[in-house]
Amino acid sequence: MAEEINIKSSLSKSEKYAELYPQLQALLADEADLTANLANATAALRQTFGFFWVGFYLVKGEELVLGPFQGTVACSRIGFGKGVCGTAWKEKRTLIVPDVDAFPGHIACNALSRSEIVVPGFKQGQVALVLDVDSDRLNDFDDTDAAGLEKIMRLLEQKI
Ligand code: SME
Repeated sequence: MAEEINIKSSLSKSEKYAELYPQLQALLADEADLTANLANATAALRQTFGFFWVGFYLVKGEELVLGPFQGTVACSRIGFGKGVCGTAWKEKRTLIVPDVDAFPGHIACNALSRSEIVVPGFKQGQVALVLDVDSDRLNDFDDTDAAGLEKIMRLLEQKI
């Protein structure tokens, strides 16, 4: 499999998720290393959707620690229950935040970030990592993103 992702920019968001999934599946199929796969997943997502910031935080002890990402520099550690990422970890569910300024305890890694979605990934029922996507526009994420990113997370969970 060639290391490339080809998705037309003219497609709708749900069409892009539908096209991305099998391409990502093929891209990850022959690689067992988690870091390599997370890194390629962030690049594929950024390439497909032009996300402002997209990356992973991995559970290490009582904290989330920054993993592979695409975008500007970010905070490297987030506590359990802190910020959007730590809350998604604590509540074990996807969080869509239409306006980060309205989310109590939001951690502003970048002042330009306006809305956010965080999707947890599980290993044996426990959160092992989260996928965090930030937008510089308000209200930029919806159920289509939640469904598309959760499906991708199910794929990545097989690599943990
Ligand atoms: N805003 C996140 C922190 C991570 S950065 O956005 C990359 C949060 O509140 O958890």
